[in-house]
Amino acid sequence: MPRDLSKSNAHWHKANTRLPLGVASNFRFWGEGRTIYVKEGRGARITDLDDNRYVDYRLGYGPAILGYAHPEVDAAAREGMQVGGVFALSTEREFRVAERIAKMVPAAELVRFSNSGTEAVMAGLRLARAYTGRDDYIILEGSYHGLFDAAMWYTPMEKWSQQGEPEVVPYSQGVPLGVRGFAHFVQANDANQLEDTFKRTAGRIACMLIEPIMGNCLGIGMEPEYLRAARMLCDKYGTLLLIDEVKTGFRVARGGVQSLHAVRPDLTTFAKAVANGYPISVLAGREDVMRKLGRGVAHGGTYTAHSVSLAAAEKCLQILDETDALDRVADFGRRLMKGMTQVLNARGIAHSFVGHPSMPGLYFDAKPPRNYRDWKGSDYAFYDAMAQVLHDEGVLCEPDSREPWFISAAHDDSCLADTLRGFEVAVDATLKTRAAEKVRA
Ligand SMILES: Cc1ncc(COP(=O)(O)O)c(C=O)c1O
Repeated sequence: MPRDLSKSNAHWHKANTRLPLGVASNFRFWGEGRTIYVKEGRGARITDLDDNRYVDYRLGYGPAILGYAHPEVDAAAREGMQVGGVFALSTEREFRVAERIAKMVPAAELVRFSNSGTEAVMAGLRLARAYTGRDDYIILEGSYHGLFDAAMWYTPMEKWSQQGEPEVVPYSQGVPLGVRGFAHFVQANDANQLEDTFKRTAGRIACMLIEPIMGNCLGIGMEPEYLRAARMLCDKYGTLLLIDEVKTGFRVARGGVQSLHAVRPDLTTFAKAVANGYPISVLAGREDVMRKLGRGVAHGGTYTAHSVSLAAAEKCLQILDETDALDRVADFGRRLMKGMTQVLNARGIAHSFVGHPSMPGLYFDAKPPRNYRDWKGSDYAFYDAMAQVLHDEGVLCEPDSREPWFISAAHDDSCLADTLRGFEVAVDATLKTRAAEKVRA
């Protein structure tokens, strides 16, 4: 049954008079008549203006790792408020949080904070360029590193005919085409192509940016051998390896994907799960590289290490480090995938999962994808149609099949039961619509 969205819709018309698309971020506009506004989030559930309740698998694109309005993290944030905000000076807590990060992530020898993932990756790329004295960088097709010009290249795969090379276009108008020449694109999990790229660009690459699980591309994961090959090739060609764990960090494991695959980057970035949603990000890495900050390389920002976010980060990281929260996240993810598989197998629907149980991507093909081009071969239209029904059934996944499902430590048995019930309804409804379309065709 379609939900009542009358209050959200009415609000959209009002909001659109003052806010472009009626929202604060382009990604939050889901179309006229489908854009929802949140009243509140608690644990793993959110409620919209029309009092529709959802089990949420977006979690703000990942941050709410412990669930919304987590009492201990929020209490810590209130303590942070007592400190006073920002002073254009540092506080003692920065050191304590940096110590915790260094304990959890061995590559994080030195740490600097920023406010968003974009800022952290942008600073990392600048630092790598300064350290190596080179300008170019390698980036994986289908990956996302934030909204700054160097990272804003996009392959419109839905338009690709599966023959020849897909085009690479700016992700937005306003990105100067002149900066395109610095970026070299490679496909995930193809070490030969990577080596060819290094050979072709001899001595020009400052940095290789790797999203170890592509969180805007189903959750396609880098194979351990590929990560190791990337590490070896970066060393061979004098390039810094930046593993961007903005989405995966403090989620898939205490030490991120880099700890699971035992690959040590020169630089690494974190954001989302650091403070359970309070805005803070991290650029960390090798001491000799990081020491260039302030010695020729600019880094800073008025709101950097705000006392509220920092206090939230201290508590959130302590919980993630010292409790079984991440085990519970992964366990829920495994049970969710098992339940979905039962529903899909019972209907003979080919599928697979990619990524990690803490952020699984559901893929409608039996063979899981290894790179973004593989996604094109799947039945993503089925996913996209199903997602709309899931929303009506109170299960909030991203409407686009390229986004994985984010799990929090607050997802519990009742969430699982509600989700699987809604999933069964959504799958059946999508099959029925398909069958009707076939008859009409
Ligand atoms: C891997 C990765 N890097 C960077 C970013 C940018 O982070 P933010 O949206 O906080 O600027 C994102 C955001 O989703 C991301 O997934």
